[in-house]
Amino acid sequence: MCGIVGYAGPQSPSSTPLEVLLEGLARLEYRGYDSAGVALVTPGGIASAKRAGKLENLRTALADDPLPDATAGIGHTRWATHGRPTDENAHPHLSEDGRLAVIHNGIIENFHALKDELLAEGVTFRSETDTEVAAHLLSRAFAETQNLTEAMRTVVARLTGAFTLLAVEAGTPDRVVGARRNSPLVVGLGEGENFLGSDVAAFISRTNRALELGQDQIVTITAHSVEVTDFQGNPVENTEYTVDWDASAAVKGGYATFMEKEIHEQPKAVADTLLGRLDDQGRLELDELRLDTAVLKRINKIIVVACGTAAYAGHVAKYAIEHWCRIPVEVELAHEFRYRDPVVNEQTLVVAVSQSGETMDTLQAIRHAKDQDSKVLAIVNTHGSTIAREADAVLYTHAGPEVAVASTKAFLAQITAAYVLGLYLAQLRGNKYAEEVAGYLEELAQLPEKIQQVLDGADHIREVARSMKDVPSVLFLGRHVGYPVAMEGALKLKELAYIHAEGFAAGELKHGPIALVEEGTPVFMIVPTRRRPELHAKVVSNIQEVRARGARTLVIAEEGDADVEAFADVVFRVPETPTLMLPLLTVVPLQIFACELAGAKGLDVDQPRNLAKSVTVE
Ligand code: G6P
Repeated sequence: MCGIVGYAGPQSPSSTPLEVLLEGLARLEYRGYDSAGVALVTPGGIASAKRAGKLENLRTALADDPLPDATAGIGHTRWATHGRPTDENAHPHLSEDGRLAVIHNGIIENFHALKDELLAEGVTFRSETDTEVAAHLLSRAFAETQNLTEAMRTVVARLTGAFTLLAVEAGTPDRVVGARRNSPLVVGLGEGENFLGSDVAAFISRTNRALELGQDQIVTITAHSVEVTDFQGNPVENTEYTVDWDASAAVKGGYATFMEKEIHEQPKAVADTLLGRLDDQGRLELDELRLDTAVLKRINKIIVVACGTAAYAGHVAKYAIEHWCRIPVEVELAHEFRYRDPVVNEQTLVVAVSQSGETMDTLQAIRHAKDQDSKVLAIVNTHGSTIAREADAVLYTHAGPEVAVASTKAFLAQITAAYVLGLYLAQLRGNKYAEEVAGYLEELAQLPEKIQQVLDGADHIREVARSMKDVPSVLFLGRHVGYPVAMEGALKLKELAYIHAEGFAAGELKHGPIALVEEGTPVFMIVPTRRRPELHAKVVSNIQEVRARGARTLVIAEEGDADVEAFADVVFRVPETPTLMLPLLTVVPLQIFACELAGAKGLDVDQPRNLAKSVTVE
């Protein structure tokens, strides 16, 4: 949430600090796009520009009114929390004398008290943001120390809440100073230039060497140096790592949108997440887990904590893990888990699922779990992210960078990784024979090809989606693992097309939701495989029940399932696959449907209104 870039490096004809910042912001725009702004340290002092709306508005403003050459700078793309998305509230925020500029991600929770104090001293505020207090406090601290790093140290001691702050100052033109508490910040290590970013996307086109910053640390970069201390000023050594994806992974690669590209990358996301998990004897091996097997053998309950799409991946995983391991699995939205006094102890395994690894709600949930001695295992896509680092164990999904705000390929990779975890526990705890585990892995290994078949046959879905662009409401029904798929299908439609959509358990239909059905109401039905006749028959009945009340039924069923044909207005086919594997196929038509329908409405599917990809506030 909010994208942050800092840069210290030379002005050269081929590349200017401003261009570096704008390129970084373009790659971070998925974190927020309510407004964008930059501040440069130039020979004449701080030069800044900021505009409400997407980055394009800032670019237009800069083309009309260019900024002078610079040696360092900061850039910001905002997801509004305090104050509406206006030019004034856009970052950077400047000190009263205009010599110091600040950008911020997070929420300064005590800003009211600080603002009152500053107002009493006669400071004039130009925005409604919490951030502006940091600009004024920093300017005052700098006046005393003449050292931006020390000034930052003084100021962070006064702030509560979550923040990443970056600052530049006119009299120290070679440097950018950053601080982080509960919000992400990484350092990019270049040749004769250095970078700061909310995540590595900010600088990935220029370097793949990155430095993790820990909690409560302050960093000062110049073109040739990087110095990190804790909030007390003690030097700290951080780990350097190499980012294993290149800049081309974060471009559209011939697709009209990132979302379309990412939907088409799903076979690879699943295949890559399965890769390299077996030892010589064909047994599952999860070296990266960092958790003692004795601990995993002792656990008697699993709680999955996550938000949004990641939580639905957890819902799917519950069915599989309980079935394979006979361990009770609860799935809970992280923000609810955190504040309701859940029953967890050292025999509970909390599994945090997160694409970004930065979702604040999920992060707070795992801290809460650790405080109560439970072990935390993270299923995360972003290497080096905060959740990955704070968890006791990590299992990475290998979906590659996901740029579109609404999640697609990460969802499939999360289910895959959670299944790998379930099978590993079943193997470790002796719930399944080695051949059984191998059999399930074989079924998983066939999925990339089957997903590809769904993608190859998607024209029909697109056509239907375009014809439905004016529908006011859509219902989604599923049973067993089809239930979380129904909820995910509804979420995609809400997020992308701004259409009212609800996902229900098909069995719940008669207990209320059926009252919503009227003549022509579109109802998606996710039909289980015929290998589970008892489930299958129930859902076929549910299709008839809604159709009898006038619904237009859009049915997702496996190839060869003739039972649904008599009651379906439209059928989307997926290849035959065992029950537990089916979500990885049935969700794909729903993603394509939402994406195409939103496109037909002329909406921006990569950056839907009001959303952000990485939600780093609670
Ligand atoms: C945001 C995104 C969703 C995502 C959720 C959880 O709300 O818009 O697409 O599912 O956060 O994100 P995470 O990074 O924790 O998976």
